[in-house]
Amino acid sequence: MVGQLKARKAAAVVLQMIKEGKIAGRAVLVAGPPSTGKTAIAMGISQSLGSDVPFTTVAGSEIFSLELSKTEALTQAFRKSIGVRIKEETELIEGEVVEIQVDRSIAGGQKQGKLTIKTTDMETVYELGTKMIDSLSKEKVTAGDVVSIDKASGKITKLGRSYTRSRDYDAMSADTKFVQCPEGELQRRKEVVHTVSLHEIDVINSRSQGFLALFSGDTGEIRSEVRDQINTKVSEWREEGKAEIIPGVLFIDEVHMLDIESFSYINRALEDDLSPIVIMATNRGVSRTRGTNYKSPHGLPVDLLDRVIIISTTPYNPEEIKQILSIRAQEEEVDVSVDALAILTKIGEETSLRYAANLITVANLIATKRKSQTVDVEDVKRSYSLFWDANRSVQYLSQYSDNLVNDAGAATLGGVKTIANPAAPAQAPATTAPVPSTTPATTTASGDTMDTTS
Ligand SMILES: Nc1ncnc2c1ncn2[C@@H]1O[C@H](COP(=O)(O)OP(=O)(O)O)[C@@H](O)[C@H]1O
Ligand SMILES: [Mg+2]
Repeated sequence: MVGQLKARKAAAVVLQMIKEGKIAGRAVLVAGPPSTGKTAIAMGISQSLGSDVPFTTVAGSEIFSLELSKTEALTQAFRKSIGVRIKEETELIEGEVVEIQVDRSIAGGQKQGKLTIKTTDMETVYELGTKMIDSLSKEKVTAGDVVSIDKASGKITKLGRSYTRSRDYDAMSADTKFVQCPEGELQRRKEVVHTVSLHEIDVINSRSQGFLALFSGDTGEIRSEVRDQINTKVSEWREEGKAEIIPGVLFIDEVHMLDIESFSYINRALEDDLSPIVIMATNRGVSRTRGTNYKSPHGLPVDLLDRVIIISTTPYNPEEIKQILSIRAQEEEVDVSVDALAILTKIGEETSLRYAANLITVANLIATKRKSQTVDVEDVKRSYSLFWDANRSVQYLSQYSDNLVNDAGAATLGGVKTIANPAAPAQAPATTAPVPSTTPATTTASGDTMDTTS
């Protein structure tokens, strides 16, 4: 990233706090003008988090869906952002295979066998059933292999070939891995750690959905009793030392799209002891909160605003715009000449960074059309005249607003002003008139198809 030093330093502090688990239940608001890197900073935070720290992104408008109520959508987003690290112990048998002996009955019935396996200190013979014999032959285990067998599931993993067999090197493929014969006991305990989110546990345990809903994403509403039970179970595990809670991060972009009810939900949810860190981003100044008539800073109700720490982003200076644009051009694999970049920078300063960045793509297409490898000044100029930025569009609107259809549905066409609304009742009979004549036509058509099918 380029520039935006204060905001990035602040983000680094937040990141440190997240890593130390210090700001669970608190909220951060990233506020600033459009295209100043708010979303980019939040994504940067997410990438610096550990691999098992959950990070969920939602846009404010995603909360409003027909399938889920607002609070259910928010609850799911919150619970997706809380990880549960579950520790599990399994018993393994790990050693070097000395001999596999399989007795096949002539009738082809049950297979039986013996597996002799050793470490440097001990050697044991295990009885084998049909299932184990099959998986041994599937993994192509032979004498001299070092294997690990999960006692509970019977899963066999080949760790490599024992060094003591390295003399038979000639008979092996080049990618054979050699390992030491294990020491000590044959049986050992191993700790396995899984991290799942609370939401995943919810879905798996809600009987109406089943775990397949995790793949379709179609989870529907989850009953609150299910959630209560899971919270109780998880806190039990926590006390027994079986599980650990990892507060993750919930990023709500364009948070001003939320309404007062959603904000009140967030306010309440932040107080819960199972709460993630909430990062919000907005480009609004003093504006109305949806669902109220009050205006407040950033469109957030004041009681929520009181809870957040605010990171503000500021517009870029010309040097930074230039750097960002050249990074952008590199990313899109577009060659931009020095002069063209200077003009793009100028455009970026006077209009917006996003518009200038979009022009790179357009100018590249124009350059390709005239069979040039690099984007030059004329390509930028041409794309600037073909595609307007918001300012010019507004200017055009104020000049020629009569020619476009306005809210009342009226527009000036070829110097004649059409007045939409008063004319509507007068036109109504004319538009309804053809309807009766088309209705019989469709009924005869369907009558025809009835005839042909019979
Ligand atoms: N400091 C920066 N360094 C590099 N690229 C940036 C920087 N700030 C913004 N950008 C780029 O500009 C574009 C707009 O940034 P974005 O984060 O989406 O803005 P916002 O969310 O504030 O509207 C993105 O393509 C982003 O990669
Ligand atoms: Mg954004």
